[in-house]
Amino acid sequence: MAETSSVQQLSRPKVSYRKPARPHYLERDDYVKPVSEIDLAAVDFIDVEQWRQDKMWDRFERLRKEDPVHYTPDSLVGPYWSITRYEDVKAVDVDNKRFSSDAGYGGITLGKPLDEFTGESFIAADEPDHWAQRKPMQAAVAPSLLRHEFEPLIRKRTGAVLDSLPDGKPFDWVEAVSTELTAMMLATLLNYPQSHRRELTRWSDVTTNPFDPDICPGGREQWLRELNECLGTFSKIYAERQAAPPASDLMSLLAHGPATQNLTAQELLGNVLLLIIGGNDTTRNTMSGGLYALNKFPDEYAKLKADPGLIPNMVSEMIRWQTPLAYMRRTALEDVSMHGKTIKKGDQVAMWYISANRDENFWEQDPNALIIDRKQASRHISFGFGVHRCYGNRVAELQLRILWEEILKRFEHIEVIDEPSRTSSAFVHGYTWLPVICHRKA
Ligand code: HEM
Repeated sequence: MAETSSVQQLSRPKVSYRKPARPHYLERDDYVKPVSEIDLAAVDFIDVEQWRQDKMWDRFERLRKEDPVHYTPDSLVGPYWSITRYEDVKAVDVDNKRFSSDAGYGGITLGKPLDEFTGESFIAADEPDHWAQRKPMQAAVAPSLLRHEFEPLIRKRTGAVLDSLPDGKPFDWVEAVSTELTAMMLATLLNYPQSHRRELTRWSDVTTNPFDPDICPGGREQWLRELNECLGTFSKIYAERQAAPPASDLMSLLAHGPATQNLTAQELLGNVLLLIIGGNDTTRNTMSGGLYALNKFPDEYAKLKADPGLIPNMVSEMIRWQTPLAYMRRTALEDVSMHGKTIKKGDQVAMWYISANRDENFWEQDPNALIIDRKQASRHISFGFGVHRCYGNRVAELQLRILWEEILKRFEHIEVIDEPSRTSSAFVHGYTWLPVICHRKA
């Protein structure tokens, strides 16, 4: 695949240490009560303040113990079921005969799709349409491409970004490293101009936060305008790639794939945003979460420095510990009984990967701790499990492995100097700010 620009030519944002202002629509910090003080029936994960304050863990623990198939009768996204145990999440994820991902039923996030954006794409399609669209796309993440083209490219870029970081001075890791590296990779996968790569980050942020006044202060009107800009840009690229010979970038594969060469505007936008969000929010938040976790568990950081051979296992463990996509939604196609409850045909069901990854009955060692040599690390469920299992998992693992290999070559230590700011979302589990100081090797 042709590189659109060299590492040296990339314009890089200035590193900064600016704590984002607290969202103005949130008034009190003590708003989230511990689960022991609330009625079980009132547990509702859609209240995003729990996520921003990182106070959802006790709720998941209580549900796993007392009510593993939990019904929330009333929420901002309507009634929904929560599946919280590891084995149950896996069972629902593989049961695509009885649980649908199709956009026609509501797709893969809770709530009704917005009229202006239906989210039609291959993640929100059932068989046989899903596989017909996904199969030709595999070429963009083929193992030989990853090994021979992406690995050297990612290593060169990662090294350049790490070399540009300030020594001994605070800066925001999310902005300077995690967002930057994932935007570069995504631009490469899409063969999108590197000089415009931050547009991809912006469209991803806007799509996943339509009601956040800090991201979309102009509300629905701004959201719609930006999504239309995204569609306009990618419609042009789609047409250009259709007119050009087939290549292995994602846009060319969409443009030439037998099941994706005649996409409607909604389907094109849906697939483009799937690829942008899939390749962006997930890896970015694991890059930040992994560094945060090593600072929270300093014995593990010491273990890593003593044995860099642990990096591949550590990468799986970081993806488990972070679980950057907290859930995927399904819709029941028939009545299904689980743990004495009946999920009715048409009901929304959330498979909480984030809870499954902390299930004390599955994980042999403390699931809340980061343990970089955990024996079961690769059995995490952060990539999902059934036919929709993550398409970009190998790319994400490669980026994370190289990041840590290059960090260990350069830095004695990377110190997290304050608690991070977190995303206000029940879907994307991540960080908006992580202040650090790098200590370079002499
Ligand atoms: C740590 C990083 C990542 C995590 C945790 C993650 C997580 C997930 C999850 C949970 C799913 C849905 C699984 C299901 O419904 O069973 C998924 C699907 C998907 N992911 Fe990822 N992802 C990551 C990185 C990436 C990257 C780098 C890309 C792009 C190159 C990507 C592209 C996709 C696509 C296209 C799908 C839809 C697959 C399908 O429907 O067949 N992901 N991912």
